[in-house]
Amino acid sequence: MPIPQAELHLHIEGTLEPELAFALAARNGLVLPYADADELRAAYRFEDLQSFLDLYYELMAVLLTQDDFADLADAYFERAASQGVRHAEIFFDPQAHLARGVSMETVVGGLWRALETSEERYGVSAQLIMCFLRDESPESAMATLEAARPHLGKIVGIGLDSAEVGNPPGRFAQVYAAAAKLGLRRVAHAGEEGPPEYITSALDDLGAERIDHGLRCLEDPTLVARLVRDQVPLTLCPLSNVRLRAVQSLEQHPLRRMLEAGLMCTVNSDDPAYFGGYIDDNLEQSRSALDLSDDQVRELARNSFRASFLEHDEEMRARYLAQVEAYVFTSVSGRP
Ligand code: HPA
Ligand code: ZN
Repeated sequence: MPIPQAELHLHIEGTLEPELAFALAARNGLVLPYADADELRAAYRFEDLQSFLDLYYELMAVLLTQDDFADLADAYFERAASQGVRHAEIFFDPQAHLARGVSMETVVGGLWRALETSEERYGVSAQLIMCFLRDESPESAMATLEAARPHLGKIVGIGLDSAEVGNPPGRFAQVYAAAAKLGLRRVAHAGEEGPPEYITSALDDLGAERIDHGLRCLEDPTLVARLVRDQVPLTLCPLSNVRLRAVQSLEQHPLRRMLEAGLMCTVNSDDPAYFGGYIDDNLEQSRSALDLSDDQVRELARNSFRASFLEHDEEMRARYLAQVEAYVFTSVSGRP
């Protein structure tokens, strides 16, 4: 039985498994340029973030109706539940859909249909975080925030994703300030491929409350000291980092060093359909590659609930944290 966790870094479009992509394509009368799911899966070999994003955006073409978004989210919830996820704060990329003529209403309405009852059906509570594409303009981000206004009751916060290098956080200071005024929580991808300065800027210029990835903070000891002091959550995604070659191998992933330095780390799955594993796969493979102790694994799980945006429901956070404390490690996964 996997340890209970909150998933804090998960792009719903990145949970599109090849089989579902083909099923949705057929339902929508589209033909994918791959013979079958196996051939598509074989294309999942990436050199860097951009080479992944090219395929990620291409496959979104199959997501057209509310049913498509609801089915995508349901498929995720089913897998997440089996991986110990009790709570999920789910990213979505509206600009990638608006650009294809799919409305905000379709995207949010479809996802919400699944989220509304995910706790009853799968035992996974969930919230939505709307991401802006940092390789689009700040004006486009602001227009997206405007388009989301009628749906803000369904959205807990905003994030920033897509191609990082050359697209520093500071460009989006205005839209983050506007979102903060609307009561939205703020996170941002930073330090995945981009330099440590982008992390500092996400904190100072965007008011980011969590940093997604944040891996490259290690190049700046002053920044590390600040992140430790303020216990800024870093939502790490080890399998993603290996697949996108931010690190050479899981054995060389800095997760354990980061924990030992006192950083507030969590383990997440990013785009699990593309990177070879969901949340517990990330945790188990990291545990094994880095020889993490049971205490460190429990700390990661505890951190995930502490860093989650459950502020309207402290009772729920306490209940989830109690489940983490009560978890008994077993030897089924090869532990000695
Ligand atoms: N990084 C940046 N943008 C993304 C990612 C990622 O790993 N996945 C989906 N959009
Ligand atoms: Zn991500």
